[in-house]
Amino acid sequence: MAERLKDTFGTVYRTLAFNFRTLALFEILYRAFGVLIIFPLVRWLFLLSIDVYGLPYVTNALLVDYLTHPTTVLFVLVILVVFSIYILIEMVHLSVLFRLSKQGRKVPLGALLRLSFARIVRPLRRAHVVAVLLPLLFFVLVETLQVAGVAATVSLPPYLTQYIEEELWLRLLTLGLLVGFFVLFIEFGHLLQVYILGREKDGSYRVVRRLIRGRRLRIAGEFALLNVVINLILYAFYLLLILLASGFSLVTFGQDLALGVLLTVLYVFYVIVGIVAALTIVPINYALAFEWYDRGRERHGIPEETPLNPELKPLRGVSRRWLKRAAVLGGVFLLVANFFTVLGVIAEERSPVAALNDPDIIAHRGASWDAPENTLAAVELAMEQRADWIEFDVHETADGEAVVLHDYTLGRTTDDEGNRRVEDVTLEEIRELDAGSWFDPAFEGEPVPTLEEVFELTAGETKLYVELKPDKPSLTETTVELIETYEMEEDAKVMSFHRDTLRDVKTLNEEIDTVLLMATFFGDFSSVVRAPDFDHFAIEKHFLLTNDHYIDRVQSEGKTVQAWTVNSQRMLANVTDAGVDGIITDRPVLAREIAYSQRTSDFLDELLDRLFDRD
Ligand code: G3P
Ligand code: CA
Repeated sequence: MAERLKDTFGTVYRTLAFNFRTLALFEILYRAFGVLIIFPLVRWLFLLSIDVYGLPYVTNALLVDYLTHPTTVLFVLVILVVFSIYILIEMVHLSVLFRLSKQGRKVPLGALLRLSFARIVRPLRRAHVVAVLLPLLFFVLVETLQVAGVAATVSLPPYLTQYIEEELWLRLLTLGLLVGFFVLFIEFGHLLQVYILGREKDGSYRVVRRLIRGRRLRIAGEFALLNVVINLILYAFYLLLILLASGFSLVTFGQDLALGVLLTVLYVFYVIVGIVAALTIVPINYALAFEWYDRGRERHGIPEETPLNPELKPLRGVSRRWLKRAAVLGGVFLLVANFFTVLGVIAEERSPVAALNDPDIIAHRGASWDAPENTLAAVELAMEQRADWIEFDVHETADGEAVVLHDYTLGRTTDDEGNRRVEDVTLEEIRELDAGSWFDPAFEGEPVPTLEEVFELTAGETKLYVELKPDKPSLTETTVELIETYEMEEDAKVMSFHRDTLRDVKTLNEEIDTVLLMATFFGDFSSVVRAPDFDHFAIEKHFLLTNDHYIDRVQSEGKTVQAWTVNSQRMLANVTDAGVDGIITDRPVLAREIAYSQRTSDFLDELLDRLFDRD
């Protein structure tokens, strides 16, 4: 048994290694084609399916309805056919390359592309349905095993898994589907080789049945063993990345920031492992499937169509040196593009499907759990803690200056003994106050900042929620002018409990996003949500969770919801599960951990707990 395994996997290895450079160049070119053509096409179809579904945003509550909507099913089928033909292209090239490798022929990339192109149409012509279904079957199975492997690090959002956990029939169906795919793959997987390399006149499935007679279990065993080994290697690679990054972030950012930083880059690791897996897992599995076909064919004396023994001439008139240089340069550039394209979509763009988005982490009054609220120290710390946005409060002094401070009076957060009102003192008087000692003597002398100082510190570095406390047109004008001066229209949202204030902001500059604050609400919520003056809604956490239908209502208008002010682990988990778009919190690092740990597996959580001795 072990001998036979060794022999099979040894041959597979040699098949992959013989023309390895051409294989690597082809895979990079092929992935690049995928990123530059297929990926945008599939994404366009996905976005179109949401438009046709009729809502600008698919909230968590609507996700199942969206996925089962007839037009979505149609789009999914179109996407699957596009994807399947894309995979078929890879398989045809791999079949041709492996055949020539086993014949001991060196194959330049140009020759491989030329030879394979002619054979792509053949399976589609000979048996459209099978030629489309098989690559998909192979890909889904191989990728499912890979996702199952990496998925040990990614847990599905609760509202998705709750269906599967609660409904036994769903769990059985999911398992049944996987087993079914596996059986189908064993039963029909060779058809592809027969279509691509076999003789035209051979009855296809009759040939396949001879190929696999008495070997089904062995094929299944070898396939399962190979994928367990591949996934263990990928998993070890992934954990190595985590350990290296943890060490680096602990050394660079210190104990309390390290985890927050690591969690923000965790995505990058998924992308890296995903790209490495995609580049390796399909060719390796396909090389094994090719070996089964080849052995079965030799065993039963099933000849191939005139064996592939072309004149493997490189492309005429192009100097090999330049061709190689162009291929390598092109490959490197496109691999980088691949990485940043995928990273860009994951990291930045808000997907129109809630389930694919993580909530923004918004530092409330700066990182006010660890520094005096509404000071430059709290803003700087929030930036170090990698908050996505920083929220703070603004008042106007007696001489019309915009200063950053929460209360209408000075007594709680400064050493002003008279507890005077902000609007009754000048900026000069306020600048004499100490806004740090009340929090911790270590912050003695920390001044009350002006709004402009915060903009100077953060412009181009981070993004802001500027909450205007009083409903004062002069303060609104000053704020809008400063946003324009520092060109922060994209990076500063203006927030207020006062609707008139936000209406004034829109009148002054409709480019600036507005956020309507709500502690509670009575009346027709829909009319407020549709109002053009309000782009986002920051709703008090308890009120929001008891009215979580508001989230769908707002998101269905293509607007967003932030929960405030959320500091406990339980509430952070609750608002994350509710599907909010942002969490306003004094504790950005904890919020990031909780929000992101909703999608990391228990095993990874356990590992992070040990690495960062989390409670
Ligand atoms: O940003 C939401 C929250 O800040 C509103 O309440 O009192 O903390 O400014 P408050
Ligand atoms: Ca506030």
